Amino acid sequence: MTKLSVNINKIATLRNARGGNLPDVLKAAGDILNFGADGITVHPRPDERHIRYDDVINLKPLIKTEFNIEGYPTKRFLELVLKVKPHQVTLVPDPPEALTSNAGWDTVKYKTFLQEIIAQMKEEGIRTSIFVDTNPENIINASDTNTDRVELYTEPYARMFSDDPQKAIEPYVEAANLARKQGLQINAGHDLNLDNLEFFSKHIPFLAEVSIGHALICDALYYGLEETIALYKDKLAK
Ligand code: PXP
Repeated sequence: MTKLSVNINKIATLRNARGGNLPDVLKAAGDILNFGADGITVHPRPDERHIRYDDVINLKPLIKTEFNIEGYPTKRFLELVLKVKPHQVTLVPDPPEALTSNAGWDTVKYKTFLQEIIAQMKEEGIRTSIFVDTNPENIINASDTNTDRVELYTEPYARMFSDDPQKAIEPYVEAANLARKQGLQINAGHDLNLDNLEFFSKHIPFLAEVSIGHALICDALYYGLEETIALYKDKLAK
C-alpha cells in the first residue's frame, strides 16, 4: 500500500512563530508515527524558517520507519543529508527564497548535476528521489540520472481536480506508467488533500509514497492529528 509520509515543516513554522518549543517538533513527529503515519518528511530551507538543521539531526534517532529529507541540493544541504543518512533524499529544484516548491527538475539540463549527487547519495546507501513534472521528456531523462524514484509534482493535478478530475489525472497516469517502464518507483506530493488523494492513489495503484504537509496540518486543527492521520490512511487504503 502507498505509504503516507507527513511533512512536519508547518509544525516547525508554528513553533518558530514564538521562539520557544511549542509545539514540540520532536514529540509531534513521534506522535504522528504512533498515530499510524508511515514516515516523516522534512524540508530544511537555507534560512531555516521552517524546520531547522538541528531538528533534522535530532529527528533521526526517533524515526525507525521512513525518514525523507527533501530540498535543494546546496553543499550545506548535502552535508546534512550525508550526516543524518535518512532512508530517502528527495532533490527539489526550489530556489532559496521560494515560498514552497513550485516546479520539477529539468532533467535534460541538470542531468549531469543530478547524476553526480545521486551517485554520492547511493554510495552512502540513501535512496534517492527527484521531484519532476509529468513532461515525458523529464521522466525519460530522469531514469538516466540513476535515481531510484521520481516524486510527481501534484500541484497542477490539485488545481484542476475540482473542475475535471479525469483530465487532471491523465498526465499523471501517463507519467507514472512511463516512469515505471523505465524502472523507476513513484512518489507524489504537493497540495494533496482529503478531497483529491483517493482519486489520485486509485489511478496510480503502484504509488510508493505520498508526502503531505500543508493540508494535513490544516485538517488537524479541526480533527486532531490522530483522527486526521487515520482519515488520510483511509483514503490510501480505498
Ligand atoms: N513534496 C515536495 C517536494 C514539497 O516541496 C512539498 C512542500 O514542501 C510537499 C511534497 C508537500 O506539499 P504540501 O505541503 O502541499 O502537502
